[in-house]
Amino acid sequence: MNNYNILVTGGAGFIGSHLCEKLSRENYGTLCLDNFNENYNPEIKRDNISNILKYKNSLLIEADILDTIALKNIFQKYPIKKVIHLAAIAGVRPSLVDPIIYIDTDIKGTVNLLEMSRRYGVEQFIYGSSSSVYGINSKIPFSESDRVDLQVSPYATAKRGSELYCATYSHLYGIKTSILRFFTVYGPRQRPDMAFHKFTRLLFKGEKIPLFGYGKLKRDYTYVTDIVNGIILAMEKEYDFEVFNLGSGKTISLNELLEILSKILVIEPKIELLPEQPGDVPITWADISKAQKMLGYAPRTSIEKGLKEFVRWYREKESLIENEEEI
Ligand SMILES: NC(=O)c1ccc[n+]([C@@H]2O[C@H](COP(=O)([O-])OP(=O)(O)OC[C@H]3O[C@@H](n4cnc5c(N)ncnc54)[C@H](O)[C@@H]3O)[C@@H](O)[C@H]2O)c1
Repeated sequence: MNNYNILVTGGAGFIGSHLCEKLSRENYGTLCLDNFNENYNPEIKRDNISNILKYKNSLLIEADILDTIALKNIFQKYPIKKVIHLAAIAGVRPSLVDPIIYIDTDIKGTVNLLEMSRRYGVEQFIYGSSSSVYGINSKIPFSESDRVDLQVSPYATAKRGSELYCATYSHLYGIKTSILRFFTVYGPRQRPDMAFHKFTRLLFKGEKIPLFGYGKLKRDYTYVTDIVNGIILAMEKEYDFEVFNLGSGKTISLNELLEILSKILVIEPKIELLPEQPGDVPITWADISKAQKMLGYAPRTSIEKGLKEFVRWYREKESLIENEEEI
């Protein structure tokens, strides 16, 4: 009756919408599930998926992963074989203010989907995890074999908790599982609370840009198309149980990032240097050798090129996104 056998949760969000678009273009039967929550303007999410809806092999489902009755109906109705689980409340700093919603959405939501996967014979589960699970890891670059037992924000702890549930379900029920640890993803449609978005908004307004950690915090920034390619490679490889870092394999400081962005926009930044905030880690840097070897993952986009694409999208959508305040 239908061949919608891939379920993408959080499909209208930043990463999810790019993934659904690529899966749809490549002719996969794709269910794009999202609850359009108000974590940021849901109109942005509607805009994100406007291209996807024209594909006959894609279907939008508005549902909440905490609604087990809705989930049951979805899994009964469609022959779902693969779940790519990206729905979450994302973001480190807000998790210090309201940790409970992270337990609800990020942990309970994940377990709800694992339960459905077990009951309805899902073959593969891919979990969108985060570099934040490495916490304050003094060994760089971060490798999948490093210890991950000291997270420094409730968000990171919820992501790590979900990873453990994925491992347990894979072990108990033989669901093929890949855990993908994304390293700060950027590009068109990036969440408005993230640094590139915030910097661009403040540069355009001529306002001061707060650089926490005195601008010295370093991040491995990964372009969204590279992440999406990594997700699809993991989906196609179908390992029994693996954890992969998906990053760029490079790290740059906030100062350097702002310098590149200011050059692209041709705007001189006004900078406010501030100390580190609770929950921040000094550096993220992915060792991507495992993903390169086992998935054929090959991130290609330079920060200069990726930022230009982000700015192009930002200008195009400015009226939609300009009122988004930082979370
Ligand atoms: N963006 C990054 O840099 C980054 C880095 C590491 C990990 N991740 C992870 O990748 C995933 C996607 O992140 P993103 O940046 O695209 O975030 P996003 O907020 O743009 O996307 C998440 C989507 O999930 C949806 N959602 C939230 N709660 C839901 C619920 N209860 N039911 C159904 N849908 C729900 C939201 O409406 C949103 O569209 C998240 O799991 C996040 O933790 C992101």
